[in-house]
Amino acid sequence: MSKTIIISNRLPVQLQIKEGSIEATPSVGGLATGMKSVHSDGESLWIGWSGLTLEEIPDSLDADIDQALARHGCSRVDLSKNEVDGFYYGFSNRTIWPLFHYFMEYSEFELSNWTVYEAVNRKFADAIAAAAADDDVIWVHDYQLMLVPQMVREQRPGLSIGFFLHIPFPSYEIFRTMPWRREVLRGLLGSDLIGFHTYDYERHFLSSVRRLLGLEVSFNEIHLEDRVVKVDSFPMGIDYKKFNEAAARHRDMKPGEISDLQNRLDTHKASTPDAKFFLSIDRLDYTKGIARRIKAFEYFLEKYPEYKEKVRLIILAVPSRSKVPQYQRLKREIDELVGRINGELSTVSWTPIWYFYRSLPFDNLIDLYTSCDIAWLTPIRDGMNLVAKEYIATRTDQTGVLILSEMAGSANEMNEALLINPNNFEQIAESLHQALNMPEEEQKRRNAAMQKRLERYNVEKWANDFMNSLLTQRQQDYSMVAR
Ligand code: ADP
Ligand code: G6P
Repeated sequence: MSKTIIISNRLPVQLQIKEGSIEATPSVGGLATGMKSVHSDGESLWIGWSGLTLEEIPDSLDADIDQALARHGCSRVDLSKNEVDGFYYGFSNRTIWPLFHYFMEYSEFELSNWTVYEAVNRKFADAIAAAAADDDVIWVHDYQLMLVPQMVREQRPGLSIGFFLHIPFPSYEIFRTMPWRREVLRGLLGSDLIGFHTYDYERHFLSSVRRLLGLEVSFNEIHLEDRVVKVDSFPMGIDYKKFNEAAARHRDMKPGEISDLQNRLDTHKASTPDAKFFLSIDRLDYTKGIARRIKAFEYFLEKYPEYKEKVRLIILAVPSRSKVPQYQRLKREIDELVGRINGELSTVSWTPIWYFYRSLPFDNLIDLYTSCDIAWLTPIRDGMNLVAKEYIATRTDQTGVLILSEMAGSANEMNEALLINPNNFEQIAESLHQALNMPEEEQKRRNAAMQKRLERYNVEKWANDFMNSLLTQRQQDYSMVAR
């Protein structure tokens, strides 16, 4: 029976070696959390990097690592420390990530990093070519592996290859600034199907293909000499049932089952009449607009001082890419901002900002989603933003307000949220005020509409749509060749 081979840099679990034994922790980020649901349901093999460098893996643990990954349906591509530096910290996260999120001033164009990126992409392609049977379907994920489709195609021309980009594809004017722009496009065009979260990203990509490679593009198909590549948008959904049911179980919890975090949230609510929680959950990343959000919160409290001692901003930031200087700087900036604002505004009974810098277990995420009145997500640029969807899915009584940046891919599907421009403090303050005063009936009306959509267009449907489109594309190609 044919299987799907999923390939991404990040596997659904991250391995660490602690006191001589292997520990697996769930990976954070939209790709891992979304694809995990797809992977656990189906017949698939997931190939990726374990999170350990070659130098960290003692021979004695080699087999144990394979076994630990096999339990999750995974197999590994090992990377040396040098490769992780050049490929992951280097080209992926100091060149492509900032450039594709429109942070041009952060993008570094280092030939040495590009060379390692190419070499590591080849490693992944070789691993696929070695693992794939002729009728397997290959699904490559994200910006770390954009050269892989073409590299696999060269070795195994008959395979069906799909690629999905989880981050924005920038406009041509931004993309063209990258020295290796044509190589990246050619790498992607090894696919039969290329998917994006939104139509805009798709449009930007097609425009770059047309202008940089001079290829014929008709509607959403790119005509190569011997093949047609289809390009389409597939907005990624969430595992709606998992979040919705977890929230329902949470609501019915008995006193002994309640977490410390939930107890703390409940105690605060009980002690402060009209207390309201604003929630933000993100990886600690400059694209997420966390620092600006904190400043906007300060502005809001200046403008509406009557909310002092009533509202509290809960920030959950999960550590991410902490070896990259911009992330280190951002961490310091956030620490300072939170410290200053809490220092200036706190009273005996009120701390305006609760800041957690860590990854939390799933149950604690549910504590936060279900306890917070307003989810406030203000990315400056974001491929999708699944947190927005997760928040809505957990609102089983349909109360709660989502304030969401227009710059998130998910804003396209969540029109009933209060959509804001993350650079417009005035608009943000007004939206917070509107959210705090929104009648319950209106909250329910807005959330019911979003829930209906999220339940229908869940992650399973997203994966099926992508796969069906890939298989159809392949069949059409075969029949074209046969003619
Ligand atoms: P990104 O992919 O850029 O990180 P998304 O919002 O699309 O952004 O996805 C983030 C995913 O990571 C969500 O599924 C969310 O539940 C999870 N997540 C975010 N922060 C944490 C955290 N502190 N602890 C555990 N999971 C988290
Ligand atoms: C985003 C990217 C993923 C990445 C994740 C976490 O969701 O699209 O490819 O895995 O962030 O980042 P990390 O660098 O830890 O893999």
